[in-house]
Amino acid sequence: MKLNNNFLKNIKEQLTEYEYNEFVSTLNLPSSHGMILKNTNQEINDILIKRFNLELFYKNNNYSYYKYDKQTLNANNVNPGSDILFHLPIYYIQEPSASSVLKNTKSEENEIILDLCASPGGKSIQILCNMEKINNSYLVSNEYDYNRCKTLSSNIEKMGFSKSIITNNNSSDLKNTFFEFFDKIIIDAPCSGEGMFRKSEDAINQWSLSLTEHCSEIQKKLLLDSYEMLKPNGILIYSTCTYSKCEDEDNVDFILKEKKDLELIHIDKIYHYQGIGEGQFFSIIKKNSSSYNSTQKNKFIIPNKFKIHAEDEKIIKAFQKENLNCDFFNMNDKTIIKNKNQYYLVYNYIDLNKYKNLNVLRFCLLIGENFNGRFIPSHAMSRSYLSENFISTLELNEIDFKKYIEGDILDYSGFKSPYVLLKYLSTPIGIAKYSNNKLKNLYPKGLRKRP
Ligand SMILES: C[S@@+](CC[C@H](N)C(=O)[O-])C[C@H]1O[C@@H](n2cnc3c(N)ncnc32)[C@H](O)[C@@H]1O
Repeated sequence: MKLNNNFLKNIKEQLTEYEYNEFVSTLNLPSSHGMILKNTNQEINDILIKRFNLELFYKNNNYSYYKYDKQTLNANNVNPGSDILFHLPIYYIQEPSASSVLKNTKSEENEIILDLCASPGGKSIQILCNMEKINNSYLVSNEYDYNRCKTLSSNIEKMGFSKSIITNNNSSDLKNTFFEFFDKIIIDAPCSGEGMFRKSEDAINQWSLSLTEHCSEIQKKLLLDSYEMLKPNGILIYSTCTYSKCEDEDNVDFILKEKKDLELIHIDKIYHYQGIGEGQFFSIIKKNSSSYNSTQKNKFIIPNKFKIHAEDEKIIKAFQKENLNCDFFNMNDKTIIKNKNQYYLVYNYIDLNKYKNLNVLRFCLLIGENFNGRFIPSHAMSRSYLSENFISTLELNEIDFKKYIEGDILDYSGFKSPYVLLKYLSTPIGIAKYSNNKLKNLYPKGLRKRP
């Protein structure tokens, strides 16, 4: 591995001689890998632990984080990223040191969290695992790049979560909307990626001193904007996957000097030679205040822009009557809204007015869309809490599960409703449209496994 001399000089300044030698001598070792597993189905987790030879790194009540040896698995033709079980809403692949940032972050009631630079979604998924059973809380998962935002949305949907609003905005747009609004903000900042060198040849080739300086300027802006959006007594978590001081410690010093009510609670740097993961810097900062009451009560008012009309209600009711054992129009804590031609089921504690002028990709749970006056149910619905409400369900065997995730039509008959919820290992995986003794495949094309 040929590294830039300026990079090595900077690293030498941060480490003792012994540490520096360790740093250099472990650069050519294989990178570390791991995954988040939801603690929802121990039977499936046991299968995964055995199949991928998983080694527990840490766990909490809601998810467990495991490491695995990718090289040995690949040598045996096993790959967690392309395994059929990857299609279940159970696990997500995330680098171990990246996972460490939120390892001790708990979720609390009445909490609104912003994940400012969220794609592909590892940190959002950690937060959402913890948030599932917590009342009156939600996550704004934001990504500034549109295509990466679509990936983020798909990853959150895949895992079956419905407590997030996914936005595609820059930090200035958000700052103008959310003054002192969030209880926690995570800035997992775009950076020069020095902690990715063992994983990515591109990261090595793209590195330059000027890149670190350029990133540092972007990060300062993200920190300043986030400060404005953070509630008094709120927590800011700032992380990068780089070692460069101007992006890490110097930026923490910068924001602490700039804003006197901020207090540094924790700071940590993980280097690849320590054997924890590939490399991460993170800091936890608190915004102090003596007088702020952080429990805000919102009135649930639907802005006109998001209201549904009589014709929407008619097609949604027709769908639910035929296919579901629940009534969207009679839920205490949720309401249907419409954005463009898509219908969402949102929690009533969310102040929708805030989102009127933002680019929102997803509001909580996408239940379906209006296609030429017909209601077409979403894939997201099949993976969510609504999966329990389907009138027709079918447990697939392994052969048919494989066919389904590859996009094939399945031969089954005898269902009472037009849409059928499909399960594998008792876990909801998607829906199919029943007609003429066939189940038409509605597994999204972008998620299908190539045979
Ligand atoms: C380190 S990645 C985030 C990883 C993510 N938090 C996770 O856990 O999967 C940083 C993200 O910041 C986004 N980004 C790039 N420039 C940005 C900017 N100026 N403002 C906000 N986000 C930006 C990138 O598109 C990228 O998705």
